Amino acid sequence: MAENNSNQTFTPISKTYDIIIFGASGFTGKYVVREALKFLNTPNSPLKSLALAGRSPSRLSVALKWASGPNPPPKIPLLTADTSDPSSLIRLAAQAKIILNCVGPFRLYGEPVVSACVESGCDYLDICGEPEFMERMEASYHEKAVEKGSLVISACGFDSVPAEIGLLFHSRHWAGPSAPNRVEAYLSLDSDKKLVGNFGTYESAVLGVANSNKLVELRRSRPKRARPAIPGPAPPKGSIIEHQKQLDLWGLKLPSADSIVVRRTLATLTENPHGLPGVNESVENVKKREAFWSSVKPAHFGVKLGKKSLFGLFPVIMLGIFLGLLSQFSLGRWLLLKFPSFFSLGTFRKEGPSEDEVARKKKPDTEVITRVMGPEIGYLTTPIILVQCALVVLNDHDNLPKGGVFTPGIVFGPTDLEKRLQENGISFDFISKKALST
Ligand SMILES: NC(=O)c1ccc[n+]([C@@H]2O[C@H](COP(=O)([O-])OP(=O)(O)OC[C@H]3O[C@@H](n4cnc5c(N)ncnc54)[C@H](OP(=O)(O)O)[C@@H]3O)[C@@H](O)[C@H]2O)c1
Repeated sequence: MAENNSNQTFTPISKTYDIIIFGASGFTGKYVVREALKFLNTPNSPLKSLALAGRSPSRLSVALKWASGPNPPPKIPLLTADTSDPSSLIRLAAQAKIILNCVGPFRLYGEPVVSACVESGCDYLDICGEPEFMERMEASYHEKAVEKGSLVISACGFDSVPAEIGLLFHSRHWAGPSAPNRVEAYLSLDSDKKLVGNFGTYESAVLGVANSNKLVELRRSRPKRARPAIPGPAPPKGSIIEHQKQLDLWGLKLPSADSIVVRRTLATLTENPHGLPGVNESVENVKKREAFWSSVKPAHFGVKLGKKSLFGLFPVIMLGIFLGLLSQFSLGRWLLLKFPSFFSLGTFRKEGPSEDEVARKKKPDTEVITRVMGPEIGYLTTPIILVQCALVVLNDHDNLPKGGVFTPGIVFGPTDLEKRLQENGISFDFISKKALST
């Protein structure tokens, strides 16, 4: 991927809304609205104007009422748009600086929204966790997005900002000459209540597994990306389930979107060792950006689900088996989508979690443990991250690339996103560093 052209002068277009939340009536969308309202016209916030968009004004109105409760709903425009009507999307994109897209599954509904944003030079952020969609958008729209000055960044939610910013945070705790060979992320979803996900996320996962061959085909059709220089040999594949003594967790290897997104960030960094130049960057920011990226040490990255007991992994193993077997056939997919609660052993429901359920919530010689921690992943952490990413784009526009399809890590790594997340309930902590006996 070529470096962004930072020599062109960027003329900001006057837009009616700083942010339009598309899919605001959805389960996740309404939580994103609630998070965005916290920053609308508050002191020092760059968010001065907000609109909601979706297929049904009445459902948008219900979502706004829920999101602003117990206060009366603020006067916010409710705009109608449907992904099957490209002109409605062009109208949205023409009015917004940024569209926050919460309409999923992205494999089904995402492309027309990306296309409209790129065409209109509008910035686009979403909460997608579907690798094939993200890579297809990069293959199809990157060049045009650079040309039109549209920043397209998927995975600005739980997928994959904690992994991306977490890896960069972790990297800073390796003082030279030591450098990591691999970073294993353990995803621990412990809560005093059973964790439940909404149908939209489950449907996206079923369709993702069913179409996994499309990602393989897409990659075969594209030029190979650069590989980062990582010290030492590639780590062994290891077993699918293992006990992690230091953390006292049972880990189950996950085919996670996070590892794919991190790999793309590291590939872009290898191709652009100083990161991506901003559209109108100050000399001071250039120095800051270059110093930031020179401190990052690429590593092999993997994700495991971490549970206190082996038995805790059982529902995920069963869901993985059901998804793997049934998603390959149309009858199997129909059964999976018809009975989400049965096949996920209660982890996903058609009607989503209740508000109460959401509210709770070479041989290596050195080991560094860091921790990223936040509230419930889908409907609390994801909206916090998406809204903070959007505020960075509004606030820090001159220091970000003018346009292109990118991962969150390569765009937001050198910005104040990590600090903003810390201030909004997502913590990044250094836990320990020790020498390992070899
Ligand atoms: N990465 C993460 O961490 C994370 C977390 C949470 C969710 N997600 C993803 O977010 C997506 C949404 O999940 P959800 O649970 O919120 O789903 P949902 O409740 O089903 O919401 C879907 C939204 O999309 C809208 N929509 C559907 N078809 C549309 C169309 N043709 N045109 C315009 N709008 C349309 C719906 O509008 P109507 O009201 O008109 O039906 C609704 O607002 C999923 O892909 C999920 O995987 C990701």
